[in-house]
Amino acid sequence: MKEYVVRGLLGDSRVLVGESLDSLAALLPERGVLLVTDENVDRLYGDRLPDFPKMVLPPGEAEKTLDTAREVYRRLVRLEAGRDWFLCGVGGGVVCDLVGFVASTYVRGMGFGFCATTLLAQVDASVGGKNGVNFEGYKNLVGAFNQPRFVVCDPAVLATLPEEEAASGLAEVVKHAAIADPDLFTFLEENAREARGLAPEAVLRMVGDSVRIKSAVVSEDEREAGRRKVLNFGHTLGHALEKAAGVSHGYGVSAGMAAAARLSVDMGLLAEEEARRLENLLLSLGLPLSLSADRRAVADALLRDKKRAGDTLDYVLLSGLGTAVARPVPVKKLLALLGLDS
Ligand SMILES: NC(=O)c1ccc[n+]([C@@H]2O[C@H](COP(=O)([O-])OP(=O)(O)OC[C@H]3O[C@@H](n4cnc5c(N)ncnc54)[C@H](O)[C@@H]3O)[C@@H](O)[C@H]2O)c1
Ligand SMILES: [Zn+2]
Repeated sequence: MKEYVVRGLLGDSRVLVGESLDSLAALLPERGVLLVTDENVDRLYGDRLPDFPKMVLPPGEAEKTLDTAREVYRRLVRLEAGRDWFLCGVGGGVVCDLVGFVASTYVRGMGFGFCATTLLAQVDASVGGKNGVNFEGYKNLVGAFNQPRFVVCDPAVLATLPEEEAASGLAEVVKHAAIADPDLFTFLEENAREARGLAPEAVLRMVGDSVRIKSAVVSEDEREAGRRKVLNFGHTLGHALEKAAGVSHGYGVSAGMAAAARLSVDMGLLAEEEARRLENLLLSLGLPLSLSADRRAVADALLRDKKRAGDTLDYVLLSGLGTAVARPVPVKKLLALLGLDS
């Protein structure tokens, strides 16, 4: 087990990589705990959870709402929970984001922790202190910055993860390698089969390095004033593709990273050979380089991106494998890349 500390404005977070789900009880207070999980996780791992009151939510992004938050508030009221209570989320990014939000707002803030059960939650969602819910079609519109006291990342629970969910996490791991860690990049190239199959040793390396990279960036810039932007690599076009093509987040981000690498080559920042290495790595992990989507819909989604500033978009590019730079990119150039020159 390896422990990483994420320093946040409101306190530190301990991320325990390689810790077992079974150690959750030892991390929790003896009483005054509400567990929150979803039906899939409960079916697979419910009998291994400590003996506390438990809420089991229907799974999926559609549940990450104020209505669901209200249900959790209600349960806390019924339990007569005060600020000394502790909320523990066991699940993927949806459960973690929701639990962090409820814990940050109920009685103006109570303690909370996570057992992250998807690769995406382990390498991304549970680190960094962002939490929140979707609101009327807008993703993560209502939320807060606040760090969980702990995050348990047990590689063994990923064995039951469906392939598409694994792909979402793998895309974020490639992102971390591409923006900050040439060694992790090489490791992934050399161990693509193990990484794709979520072999425990490969998972430990991917999660550990991702947590280290993301927490270093976040500790420097918790509220996304500058440096944290590099974590958006592949995400500007990725989000637009996710919406327009109706694919999972990871697939959108993968195609978004491939396009950003091409753009980096185009702008003289990245060598052709390096862009090709990124493309080959994505392919070997079962991730797409491009997606078919209505180009106009992609362009529309892209131009509605909140990072748009005048005629340029603030875009994260690579100046090498392991080095990210944010640069304004003319909207015209982006549209040309999509084959939309108008
Ligand atoms: N806070 C952040 O910084 C941050 C970063 C990235 C993503 N997110 C959020 O994370 C969410 C996506 O997270 P996600 O991909 O984990 O989605 P998710 O929580 O919906 O989990 C995906 C699916 O896997 C199932 N599942 C969970 N663990 C499992 C296991 N061990 N075995 C089998 N099935 C399992 C879930 O029931 C669900 O059906 C989004 O809402 C996104 O906005 C937040
Ligand atoms: Zn992402």
